[in-house]
Amino acid sequence: MEYNISVTPQAERTVAETKSIPFGKVPTEHMFIAEYKDGTWHNPRIVPFHDLSLSPLALCLHYGQTVFEGMKAFVTADGGINIFRMQKHYDRFCKSLDRMCMPLVPKALFDEAMHQLVQLDASWVPDEPEASLYIRPFMIASEGRIGVKVADEYLFMIVASPAYQYYANPLKVKVETEFSRAAEGGTGAAKCGGNYGGAFYPTEKAKREGFDQVLWTDAKNHEFIEESGTMNAMFYMNDTLITPALSGSILDGVTRDSLVTIAKEAGIKVETRQVSLKELTDALEAGQRVEAFGAGTAAVIAPIEQITIAGKTYTCYIGEDAMMFQLKAKLNNIRKGLAPDTHNWNYIVK
Ligand SMILES: Cc1ncc(COP(=O)(O)O)c(C=O)c1O
Repeated sequence: MEYNISVTPQAERTVAETKSIPFGKVPTEHMFIAEYKDGTWHNPRIVPFHDLSLSPLALCLHYGQTVFEGMKAFVTADGGINIFRMQKHYDRFCKSLDRMCMPLVPKALFDEAMHQLVQLDASWVPDEPEASLYIRPFMIASEGRIGVKVADEYLFMIVASPAYQYYANPLKVKVETEFSRAAEGGTGAAKCGGNYGGAFYPTEKAKREGFDQVLWTDAKNHEFIEESGTMNAMFYMNDTLITPALSGSILDGVTRDSLVTIAKEAGIKVETRQVSLKELTDALEAGQRVEAFGAGTAAVIAPIEQITIAGKTYTCYIGEDAMMFQLKAKLNNIRKGLAPDTHNWNYIVK
């Protein structure tokens, strides 16, 4: 099915100076919006960025029926604009929507909306190393009604914002063994708002203790590493790239998947499996060289320089020759069109 998206551009076009502004603070000039009612999507349109008018009874405000995605567009070496791994982000969006009993967005509508919005705001995609346009598709339950129920009405929107380096410095993380982010059978594998709201308290507590982030462990026994903030956890030790297997309680990260694929292709040994705290502690206690890093769209690769486990702090390897930086360079080269896109990960807008 073809979707006819109406486009109303800003009367006067501008590109704000965004370089020194924190992540996500400045939206581009336009946004996409469509309403879901009576079982179908209505009035898909691209309009100047504006505030919403929403009933205070809107179900999303009370019961957290919200889902979002986060992806990036890059300026390629030949001056094109590339949206990276749009298909995988769309697939994950659908999985999250399904988990939250929300209507799926047809792929043709999603693709067309992404294409047109990024094309219209193409001048907002920064062409600098480490810079990109962060794109946020999301859906909220907009039906106005107090009462715990699945909504009948929704808004699907896409906004975007120029993005520069997410973390200025390597991270100090605390392995969290008191609080949990997600439990088996819960919503940990969905990108739904509640997962993030629930993570604030332990994360803020850790920040007050001098850490940048927490490294979550499984909710049952706090025995296995899960993920960290908005990143999947990855390790490089014993010449092996190791990352926790998808368990239902961590997000199926697109960056994680890309790095695993790139590493395998480069002949690096890769293991996706449970990573126990004991294994990590033993390696660090033995003085083994351990690279630890977070992998996610916003931060790309965030080196972890210190891990605190049960009150004891260990140092991880973050030297220039670290494997994580080699993998990051390979990933960036694909996204910027400097290396062949052998998996069709790139969607070239123009
Ligand atoms: C909880 C969580 N884990 C991992 C990730 C990394 O996923 P991706 O690489 O798709 O951005 C994210 C970010 O989306 C996240 O929010």
